[in-house]
Amino acid sequence: MITTTHPPRGRRLQAALEHASGDKRFRILDTHLKRHQHRPDALIEILHRAQELFGYLEEDLLLYVAHALKLPPGRVYGVATFYHFFTLKPQGEHTCVVCLGTACYVKGAREILRAVEAAAGVPSGQTTPDKRVSLLSARCIGACGVAPAVVYDGTVSVRQTPELAADRIRQWRSHGSG
Ligand code: FES
Repeated sequence: MITTTHPPRGRRLQAALEHASGDKRFRILDTHLKRHQHRPDALIEILHRAQELFGYLEEDLLLYVAHALKLPPGRVYGVATFYHFFTLKPQGEHTCVVCLGTACYVKGAREILRAVEAAAGVPSGQTTPDKRVSLLSARCIGACGVAPAVVYDGTVSVRQTPELAADRIRQWRSHGSG
């Protein structure tokens, strides 16, 4: 649960804002925020876009949105947890988000998704029973020029193949890290 006065929140928000400078997905989200003129009543729309970009709504992302819309973090968290179509950070130790946007799709993202689902033994949107890996998909993460892209534990990897992606999942499942 996000609170508005707990000291670590400030540090997390700072981390999110610093993160924003180097992650293209935040820039795309900023464009979307501008398009909505940072209006608080655009919250659900913005959260949809954020989830499309990141695959799920992590706490720092919710804080980023709250800051951008000048809303109390608790309100943003409340909305994100109320609606079933929003996914908060999955339970897996590792997360793999396969981009299924158009550019990635035409370059084989569907095959990549199939390969990671086979390697993990669970479909997209789920976490392996041992809680090692959560699989998700996103719609364009801002790396179209170097598609297909997959995000492993928050880091965007480009020009992926089904083999590369499946290897990463198998590595996570066997070692739990890396
Ligand atoms: S469609 Fe995958 S990065 Fe744009």
